[in-house]
Amino acid sequence: MQSITIRRPDDWHLHLRDGAMLEGVIADSSRDFARAIIMPNLVPPVVTTEDAEAYRGRIMAALPKGDRFEPLMTLYLTEHTDPDDVEKGKESGLITAVKLYPAGATTNSHGGVRDIDKAMPVLERMARIGLPLCVHGEVTTSDVDIFDREAVFIETVLDPLRKRLPELKVTMEHVTTKDGIDYIKSAERNLAGSITTHHLIINRNAILVGGIRPHYYCLPVAKREHHRVALRQAATSGDARFFLGTDSAPHVDPLKECGCGCAGIYTSINTMSCLAHVFEQDNALDRLEAFASLNGPAWYGLPINEERITLVKRAEPVSFPVKIETGAGPVTVFDPMFPLHWDVER
Ligand code: NCD
Ligand code: ZN
Repeated sequence: MQSITIRRPDDWHLHLRDGAMLEGVIADSSRDFARAIIMPNLVPPVVTTEDAEAYRGRIMAALPKGDRFEPLMTLYLTEHTDPDDVEKGKESGLITAVKLYPAGATTNSHGGVRDIDKAMPVLERMARIGLPLCVHGEVTTSDVDIFDREAVFIETVLDPLRKRLPELKVTMEHVTTKDGIDYIKSAERNLAGSITTHHLIINRNAILVGGIRPHYYCLPVAKREHHRVALRQAATSGDARFFLGTDSAPHVDPLKECGCGCAGIYTSINTMSCLAHVFEQDNALDRLEAFASLNGPAWYGLPINEERITLVKRAEPVSFPVKIETGAGPVTVFDPMFPLHWDVER
């Protein structure tokens, strides 16, 4: 039997939601991951350190007894964010990053930033105190095709911002294009990227061929095959600038299976099995630990986890539920469309 032992992984981009949904999904993260960067796009969003502290409290209260899991809190950047509040949050150790959602880019982002100039005071402060900015890298103007929105964001927003503030540390989250990968590779410093589980596995055909499949729809939307290949190469290369951010984003099935379905794919429960499969396929199992457990903490300046997990390859496929039941309703689990044999040993 094949097996691999790695440092306990972290998830550098996760949606835990709130209330009954939070209670229904948190165990799927705390089972395999030691820490996660928690997205602030609640309704209403997490905009102040006070909001973040309260949300952290609700997450800790929902955590299954005995599980050790550290939520790394973020603030949702608005045009009115107070630089002093952000600095206070960093100094107290509560805040790990600030999240930029261009207004309207994705789920619950209407309060995001329209005019980046208005956010400059807080971005300047973050550059000074070394607090990373996590970006949802898509423009939202209606004249830009949805498949081009990441590339256009890099050219018209991200690159000018980085030239204006070279000291700002930027995480380009859920990179979905070769353009994104190439841009990150071209930067000498202060730029890194997270990659999701599902973008390593699906291209846009999964959403559109043979019928419309809402459970493969997320934002940024999956792109053409050559982009997926570029993501795979980056993730499995061991390059320290790339690390795991699942972007696991639960929505109840009725909100995905309807005339205007929500964006988001739920992968917390089977990410480590999927990743072991992907890295084995690419002859890179020895680099899984870098991607899932080492590169992220190095980028965020946090210690690596001392605990280990072991993944074993079973002869029979491992079964995951098709959907999980939460108090908010059923949530369909990501189906990689191949049998999963790798299993986290408990
Ligand atoms: C996320 C969500 O549902 O909150 N959806 C998604 O498709 N990834 C928002 C996001 O990260 O874009
Ligand atoms: Zn997300």
